[in-house]
Amino acid sequence: MYLTRPPMGFNTWNTFADNISDQLVREIADRMVSDGYLECGYNYLVIDDCWSLHTRDEQGRLQSDPEKFPYGIKALADYVHSKGLKFGMYSCVGNYTCAGFPGSYEYEFIDAKTLAEWGVDYLKLDYCYKPQTEDGARLYRRMGLALANCGRDIVLSACSWGADETHKWIKSTGAQLFRSTGDIFDNFGSIREIYNIQKNIYQYNGQGCFNDMDMLVVGMNGEGHVANRDNFCTLEEYRTHFSIWALFGSPLMIGSDIRSQTDATKAILQNKAVIAINQDPAYRQPYLFMSKPGNADVWVRHMDNGDLVFGIFNMSENTEMFPLSFTDHIGLNRTCGVSLKLFDVWDMKSLGTFKDIYVTHVEPHSSKLIRARICED
Ligand code: GLA
Repeated sequence: MYLTRPPMGFNTWNTFADNISDQLVREIADRMVSDGYLECGYNYLVIDDCWSLHTRDEQGRLQSDPEKFPYGIKALADYVHSKGLKFGMYSCVGNYTCAGFPGSYEYEFIDAKTLAEWGVDYLKLDYCYKPQTEDGARLYRRMGLALANCGRDIVLSACSWGADETHKWIKSTGAQLFRSTGDIFDNFGSIREIYNIQKNIYQYNGQGCFNDMDMLVVGMNGEGHVANRDNFCTLEEYRTHFSIWALFGSPLMIGSDIRSQTDATKAILQNKAVIAINQDPAYRQPYLFMSKPGNADVWVRHMDNGDLVFGIFNMSENTEMFPLSFTDHIGLNRTCGVSLKLFDVWDMKSLGTFKDIYVTHVEPHSSKLIRARICED
């Protein structure tokens, strides 16, 4: 199966970790539809780690925990599908999952068959407890083949955290997305760390195998498994986080509890103009346009309709001035005879038409997405 746009959806891990159940997943499914997430494109509902029993059945099959999922996974998948959503699950290339449940090592073909029977559409496959003598690429390839031959279209979401230079071999495995970093946390230091890693590997992103920068923490507000009540992102930092994920074309998997979202959080997660950048049909990689000390950077991405998007990410601790010279990198010099009509995507306002240069200031930890249309002088 070939994906042309980065997947969008919801994953249970960031907020709920072990605390998952049939009821929770059904409630999330309901809210994804009733609160407008599905309409914005968030169509995968993924159960992460901790859904199974600690033992396989007599035929070697994974079995769901009957206390958490009393009606079984197939019934839950049917419910999720009845809402117009796709259903995802989690396993691991190693002997155990990261939380210590059975992994898929040497059970790949059995597990792919079980998932297909249950009606699963997406498998997140982690990297814990990989036997040291085994090669990661080999294991993802094995599961890639198992899924490709299981009789159902199942997306393979590799989660090897960028280990062993994942980006260099992952496209050969059949994975449609790959985690390029360690786990995200709900604080700006974590966002900055993940962002910095992208500076060396963003070129490996592309249609068919998307660079997954990890699930979003937007709206966690210090609550949940990967959050800390004493140190969590501000609303402005969440906006920067979402802007980066959007411009870099990362999958957008919500990790906060969508049942108790504030309007301010929803305004970020459901911003259709920002999502449109992430989901742009041409899916071009961004390029670095300018970089100031402290990772105060500007990136540009070319859109399918001929527009450009400037992503200005001020990850530093100082307010910075950004002089955007249109000749630099983009190559729009005087002889082109064109200007750029600029639109601030978050503020939803026109900034005017500029020739040669546009200068703006951005506060610390803040960002701007500016969509530019070429117009004749
Ligand atoms: C790893 C992954 C996380 C999550 C947990 C579950 O840490 O990177 O995204 O899936 O395992 O145990």
